[in-house]
Amino acid sequence: MRQCRIAPSILSADFARLGQEVSDVIAGGADWIHFDVMDNHYVPNLTVGPLVLKAIRSYSTVPVDVHLMVEPVDELVPAFAKAGADIITFHCEASRHVDRTLQLIRDHGLKAGLVFNPATPLTYLDYELDRLDVVLLMSVNPGFGGQSFIESTMEKIAQVRRRLDRYEAETGRRIVLEVDGGIKPSNIAKVAAAGADTFVAGSAVFGAGSAEGYAQVISQMKAAVAQLD
Ligand code: DX5
Ligand code: ZN
Repeated sequence: MRQCRIAPSILSADFARLGQEVSDVIAGGADWIHFDVMDNHYVPNLTVGPLVLKAIRSYSTVPVDVHLMVEPVDELVPAFAKAGADIITFHCEASRHVDRTLQLIRDHGLKAGLVFNPATPLTYLDYELDRLDVVLLMSVNPGFGGQSFIESTMEKIAQVRRRLDRYEAETGRRIVLEVDGGIKPSNIAKVAAAGADTFVAGSAVFGAGSAEGYAQVISQMKAAVAQLD
């Protein structure tokens, strides 16, 4: 069966009830919690830091996927590791030494991932696959929830899928292919068909407004992907 991990982005959650929101999406079938960190420098928005991660960490029984939209990156890695991150991803352009940053994340015992904006070339993958646990392709420009899926990402997903499949055949190691931005029940199947296995969804999940609604959207998404089998 095709892998389908749903990672609700808490960016669209009710921040006054964040712990409960995390519990609710997990009860509704979330596989990861996606934690968006924005610094009003690398991206034009400001969100949350390690303090908030630490506060919600005990509510999560699933891995917390910290998406750093910050520049520089390295100073924040130990702080997010300490606060309870399981996975840390960062943007290629935000680190002067991508290889060093990937190693730093792994040195803290976490899974490491590189994030590609819609216009970022995939050449960053050429020498780093051995250090990567996750490739995260942005299907919107980072900074805000609720934007529309950028279609040119489809070709990129397919290209990365081919590359990761080749790598797995050679090494036996499987790297996660995650897509972030504008994913909803009506388009998740095509994103999965192109080769993604992990799907961030913020407004689609939390826009449903209640714990029952979250569960419904997550199961609709999983059903849409399962139909491809
Ligand atoms: C965008 C963030 C996304 C965002 C996704 O910069 O990285 O994770 O929350 O939100 P939706 O699913 O609403 O596009
Ligand atoms: Zn994100």
